[in-house]
Amino acid sequence: MSYESNKLLCAVLTVLLFYLLTSFIGDLIYKNDNDKKVSLSYFIEDSKNNTKEEIEIKEEVSTQIDKDSIIALLKEANLQDGENFIKKNCASCHDFDLPLKNKIGPSLANIINREIGSINSYKYSKALRENTNSWSLLNLYLFLENPKEWAKGTKMSYRGIKDKNKLINTLKYLESNSRNNEN
Ligand code: HEC
Repeated sequence: MSYESNKLLCAVLTVLLFYLLTSFIGDLIYKNDNDKKVSLSYFIEDSKNNTKEEIEIKEEVSTQIDKDSIIALLKEANLQDGENFIKKNCASCHDFDLPLKNKIGPSLANIINREIGSINSYKYSKALRENTNSWSLLNLYLFLENPKEWAKGTKMSYRGIKDKNKLINTLKYLESNSRNNEN
């Protein structure tokens, strides 16, 4: 091989080597960068899924209650605690005696099984006025647990009874008071 062609081969090999080296380093940097992105987006998606699961579980728990378990819980409930709770938390807006008298909120004198949003002299929100169901124990439970969630658009600003015992005691009082007013 001549000296000239040796030089040429050397140059070609150098260029080739340089090309391989730069593309290898480039790959290395690019790959690492890509890996980071993949793991990051996986993490975000995963944490999204977690919160979604949490929400789904919460919803299941709060809708787990049914008529029979409310009736069973009412047997153990404390009427006096319910009355105290209502005087403190509801009486500023609601009246509980006959004859029916509205305050900021409608009278609750005979609320059990009364049609939702049905007192003619009271100006309800559309959310309650257009609901044609009745105040069964279950509906009262779900409404009082989270008024704005159960009756979207209600104008009752009360935020709901989060403590299950207090909620059941409140129902016990509403039930007993409604029954007394029937007689
Ligand atoms: C800050 C005032 C306020 C408080 C406190 C309040 N409410 Fe109300 N309540 C209202 C208003 C206003 C409405 C009418 C809601 C509508 O039209 O959307 C209402 C509606 C209701 C209804 C529906 C009545 C019907 O005729 O359909 C029930 C049941 C009820 N409240 C129960 C309670 C109970 C029980 C408490 C206490 C734990 C309570 N509220 C606390 C203002 C209040």
